[in-house]
Amino acid sequence: MEAMRAVQILNPSGEVTMPRPERTRVMCVANQKGGVGKTTTTVNLAVALALHGNRVLVVDLDPQGNASTGLNVPHHTGVPDVYDCLIEGVPLADVAQPVEGIPNLWCVPATIDLAGAEIELVSVVARESRLARAIAAYPGHFDYVFIDCPPSLGLLTVNALVAAQEVLIPIQCEYYALEGLNQLINNINLVRQHLNPRLEVSTILLTMYDRRTRLADAVEQDVRNHFGDKVLQAVIPRNVRVSEAPSYGQSVMTYDPGSRGATSYFEAAQEIAERGVKEPVSRNA
Ligand SMILES: Nc1ncnc2c1ncn2[C@@H]1O[C@H](COP(=O)(O)OP(=O)(O)OP(=O)(O)O)[C@@H](O)[C@H]1O
Ligand SMILES: [Mg+2]
Repeated sequence: MEAMRAVQILNPSGEVTMPRPERTRVMCVANQKGGVGKTTTTVNLAVALALHGNRVLVVDLDPQGNASTGLNVPHHTGVPDVYDCLIEGVPLADVAQPVEGIPNLWCVPATIDLAGAEIELVSVVARESRLARAIAAYPGHFDYVFIDCPPSLGLLTVNALVAAQEVLIPIQCEYYALEGLNQLINNINLVRQHLNPRLEVSTILLTMYDRRTRLADAVEQDVRNHFGDKVLQAVIPRNVRVSEAPSYGQSVMTYDPGSRGATSYFEAAQEIAERGVKEPVSRNA
């Protein structure tokens, strides 16, 4: 069974495909709570979609550079990065790097330079829409652009919300999971009113689910009651293979494609892809 799952996930023959959207779906992966699985979700969904026939760009918008690390893309000081695009107006295409071993996947890395951007952006013209402009000007056609946000609601996250049509919120199945979510939703509403009317929360993903605890189950019920069908059926279990993968510069998809972590991210990606062709982005959050 595990071997069969692994073959389906790695898809060496290219036989298994996930439907491609008609237009580029720009998805902002956000939650100002730290450590809820934003980066893990970004990296694994991006790899899963790219392995199944989609062209995908990951924009690392977190000065921690975790998405760049997870995709094994160089991001030491001096590497052209998303900071150069936001502050200096360098085209995204000049800084995007192909992800080794995964055809059809590119990454715009973040270096430590980005740490200054939150403050430097304040005095830049059109400071909220720098990323939106950069993505719109990218000549390559992508099916998906995933933006990995930092754990804050500052100008970097605002840039991601202005650039995206969809917000994907990973929610960790733990106590306090919903605390602070109102603040995120309020910010999304403000951005929709003033800067980006097409923005919607399209997807909620439950992460680090530990089925041994009753708490995880209670959080899942709460989230499903509150967000209804925005919540993906696929739930990501707490799985040690998922947390090991980044130290090998890999996603769990390639690191251990037979693992439960890989299977569940594969299922989540499939659901996202299927929703994208069924219901064009039009609902309100
Ligand atoms: N399903 C999982 N099972 C086990 N560990 C996980 C899982 N998902 C994420 N982790 C681990 O939890 C930690 C936090 O995950 P991640 O970095 O994706 O969160 P984040 O929301 O991006 O954090 P930050 O807010 O700092 O950007 C990491 O060490 C990661 O490897
Ligand atoms: Mg992160």
